[in-house]
Amino acid sequence: IEISGSFVDGTGENIMIRHFFKSFSTYPAGVKAKAMIKKSRESVARLVGGEADDIIFTSGGTEANNMVFHTAVEHFWRNWEAAQETHRHLNENRVFPHIVTSNVEHDSVKLAAEYLQENRKADVTFISVSQETAHVEVQDIIAAVRPNTCLISIMLANNETGVIMPIQEICSRVKAMNKKREKLRILLHTDAAQALGKIPVNARELGVDFLTIVGHKFYGPRIGALYVNGPNTRTPLYPMLFGGGQEQTFRPGTENTAMIAGLGKAAELVTNNLLDYEAHMQKTRLYLEERLKAVFKDKIHFNSHYPGSDILPNTCNVSILGPGLQGWRVLSNCTRLLASVGAACHSDSGDKPSDILLSCGIPVAVAANAVRLSLGRGTTKADVDAVVEDLKETVQLLC
Ligand SMILES: Cc1ncc(COP(=O)(O)O)c(C=O)c1O
Repeated sequence: IEISGSFVDGTGENIMIRHFFKSFSTYPAGVKAKAMIKKSRESVARLVGGEADDIIFTSGGTEANNMVFHTAVEHFWRNWEAAQETHRHLNENRVFPHIVTSNVEHDSVKLAAEYLQENRKADVTFISVSQETAHVEVQDIIAAVRPNTCLISIMLANNETGVIMPIQEICSRVKAMNKKREKLRILLHTDAAQALGKIPVNARELGVDFLTIVGHKFYGPRIGALYVNGPNTRTPLYPMLFGGGQEQTFRPGTENTAMIAGLGKAAELVTNNLLDYEAHMQKTRLYLEERLKAVFKDKIHFNSHYPGSDILPNTCNVSILGPGLQGWRVLSNCTRLLASVGAACHSDSGDKPSDILLSCGIPVAVAANAVRLSLGRGTTKADVDAVVEDLKETVQLLC
């Protein structure tokens, strides 16, 4: 049996994948599938600066993020007894694993953390991002660390504002703390879903133990992977599901060969062309911002701009100020522009202003009008002109 899937490879051509055979079968097609998976693993590893064995393919970013939280809790309980000798003062009350994360994470982190907290499986500290910079401040993360902290999970770049977080600095501060916490070290995780394919990402340089990879964010198919710095050697990893023994036994089921092949190809394209992609997106976004300012003048507010903060090259979160110009109204009246008011995965949250923007200090009336414009590898200046014209006509209609 043969099946094929297709996705856009960023050059506008469709790549057809025909890899349906099981990689552990010994017939020639099975051997070929195995080789394909190996090649893809190497390509994905190269994308994030790791080794092939550091890559665990998953169904997507949500699974990768949940695996990290699950692992951190398990890591705590397996090491807590030994660590107690060092932290005797914690013996008095029941101690839970403690996790530090931010208040602007994707739901796949936020809801996993809330679940653990609500079900008394972990204590979680949600660090608020600064309302000046829209990123977490390193000192706030460090100040939140407790003797029972087992995980710090902060995204690399926010999916609504594009603001980049100080992960490298957090990791180097926490690594210094970990030198005194041999028995229960703090694991470091970043969800790099939004950053990959837009800026250079190197897990080793960042200093993380775990890094989440999402294929569809960089023109790949809808699967993902988790980078683990030496699974079960340097970094603990525990499976959530059992049966099948794939991915070094960390995952069940039969490998999704076609999607894995696609993820590898998408990773390869990013590794080879990132500088061009990045420069193109940056140039086109700056042009978009210029055009928006020229047309809407002081009625435009950029929800991605914070003094001193770096943002992804492709993200332009913007509000056109004025009554009746809520993001959802503007977008539903545009004839050409296709965008969402916030994270695409929250597109059913309707007319509510985004919690992420409110957390970044954007006033309610401004956040209510937000639209998130994302530029791609193929977005041209002519596309930008068409979108700005579309917005102009829509605003005239609604005002
Ligand atoms: C920052 C971030 N993390 C995780 C995810 C979840 O990834 P997936 O849809 O592959 O589960 C997304 C959304 O796609 C995201 O934007």
